[in-house]
Amino acid sequence: MKKLGLGVLASGRGTNLQAIIDACAEGRVPAVVKVVVSDVEAALALERARSAGIPAVYLDPGKFKTKLEPERELEYARFLKEHGTDLVLLAGFMRVLHSDFLSAFAGRILNVHPALLPSFPGLHAQKQALDRGVRFSGCTVHFVDDSVDGGPIVLQAVVPVHQDDTEETLSTRILKEEHRIYCEAVRLFAEGRLLVEGRKVRILDKPAGEC
Ligand code: GAR
Repeated sequence: MKKLGLGVLASGRGTNLQAIIDACAEGRVPAVVKVVVSDVEAALALERARSAGIPAVYLDPGKFKTKLEPERELEYARFLKEHGTDLVLLAGFMRVLHSDFLSAFAGRILNVHPALLPSFPGLHAQKQALDRGVRFSGCTVHFVDDSVDGGPIVLQAVVPVHQDDTEETLSTRILKEEHRIYCEAVRLFAEGRLLVEGRKVRILDKPAGEC
C-alpha cells in the first residue's frame, strides 16, 4: 500500500519534525516525510531533514513578517505537490497561511500548537498560560483553516502548570506531549480515521468507507 506523503513546513529547531521523521522510520506512523520547506534559511529543521536524507529547502517568504506573499504561497504549494505531498504538517511554522495555499491542500493541513485551544492562540502560548495563572495547559493538533490556530481540533493533551514554572520549564513539559499527539494525529489521518463534521472531528474505529 502506498504510504501517505508528508510535506513539512517549519521555521525553527524542528523537534516536532524529528518526532515525525522517527515515527515514520520506526513504522509507528504509516507515512513518509517527502520534503521539508522553511521560511528561515538557517532553520535547524532543514539540517534535521537533510541528515535523514529528506529533500529540504529554504523558500523565500517575501516581504511580510507574519504571512507569505501571495505568489510565494503558490510557490510553496507547488513545491510541496511536486515532491509528493498528500498531507501538509505545520511544525513550528510561524506564518499564517491564506486561501491560495489552503485551497491547494483543502482538509489536508495539520498544525500543532502549545496550548489547549481555543485558549491562548497565536504567539508565546506558554507565556500567555503562565501570565493567566491557569493550573493546566497543554497542546493541540488541529486542522488548519483561515483563522489563527482556530481550525477543527483533532487531539489534545493536558499538562499541569507548576507554581515555580518558567516559560522554559512549561514549554519543555508541553513539547514532550506535542511530539506524542502529533505522531498519533498523523497516524489517524494516514489510516483514514479522521472525519471532519463542521467544527468537530470524529475519530473512527475503522477507515471511512469500510464497514
Ligand atoms: C512548538 O512548540 C509548536 O507547538 C510551536 O512552535 C514550537 C516549534 O518547536 N508552534 C506554534 O506556536 C504555532 N502557533 P519545534 O520547532 O521544536 O517543533
